[in-house]
Parts: sequence; C-alpha cells; structure tokens
Amino acid sequence: MIEKTFMMIKPDGVQRGIVGKIIQRLEDRGLKICAMKMMKIPKELAERHYQEHKGKGFYNPLLDYITSGPVVCMVLEGENAVAASRAMMGKTNPQDASPGTIRGDLAQVTGRNIVHGSDSSESAKREINLFFNDYEIQKYEKIDEAWLLEK
Ligand code: RTP
Ligand code: MG
Repeated sequence: MIEKTFMMIKPDGVQRGIVGKIIQRLEDRGLKICAMKMMKIPKELAERHYQEHKGKGFYNPLLDYITSGPVVCMVLEGENAVAASRAMMGKTNPQDASPGTIRGDLAQVTGRNIVHGSDSSESAKREINLFFNDYEIQKYEKIDEAWLLEK
C-alpha cells in the first residue's frame, strides 16, 4: 500500500551536520520526498505533536529538546512508508537500535535520538496536517517509480 508518513530530523541531527546523510538514506530506499522544510518548532506545536506523552517523566525534557533549535520536517511517500521509515529509524533508545538503522548508526542516547517518524497511519495523517499545509505537499511522479514499484 502506497502511503505517506511524517518524519523529522531533530535539533541534534541538524547541529551535528548529518541532515544530508539522513536524507540520503531515505532517498536511497526510494522514499519520495513530497514536502520538506526547516523550522524552529514553537512550544505550542511541540505540545500538540507530543500530546500522547503529556504527564510522563520525559515530557518536559522532550519539549525542551525538540524546541532547542531548528528541525527539518518531511513528508515521505512509499510502499508501507510508516513501517518502512520506522524500521529505518531503529528503536527509540539508540542503544537498542540495530546497526544499519539511523539511530543505531548515528546516535547514542534516547534523549538525543536525532529523528522522529510517525508510528501509525493515523499518527502520520495527524502529524502531516500539524506541520504542513496542503499546498506545501507536492504531487508529482518520479522517473524511477516504474522501476522501484510494481505498477
Ligand atoms: P519519536 O516519537 O520521536 O519518533 O520517537 P519514538 O516513537 O521512537 O518514541 P516515543 O515513545 O514516541 O518517545 C518520543 C521521544 O521522547 C523521548 N523519550 N525519552 N527518557 C525516556 O525514557 C524517553 N522516552 C522517550 C525520545 O526523544 C523519543 O524519541
Ligand atoms: Mg513516537
């Protein structure tokens, strides 16, 4: 099933200069970039984005972390894009993330785990709407699609 997901390179990924590396992995997998922008997330948006974690011990540090500098937000499309991008990210705690995953290769601790990705198609829809307007999401055909996907 072709679907869209929301992904974000968190402030530590931007500061560590690995934005290009992370995007390269996603492009190499064949995920189509439908939208992309850099922004510093306002506190209110961070609260809405991470509303499911309100009340947990890591909630306030998480808000501080995610609003601490610019992030790169993306809408990606592909076959089972939600699960595919989660698998590419690896486990939440980079110590548990397999080598070969973004977190397993490029991060060390949960509180600096460099990427976010939607965890279900419902979250993907919610998060895409939270961060992007319709006109920011591009609809286009990529020339490699006929060779990447069975159509
Ligand atoms: P994300 O939402 O950022 O993609 O990460 P995730 O689904 O893998 O993990 P989630 O449980 O949704 O947690 C969101 C983010 O909160 C921080 N966190 N810290 N100290 C802790 O126990 C803890 N647990 C989570 C991480 O930055 C995690 O990515
Ligand atoms: Mg999550």
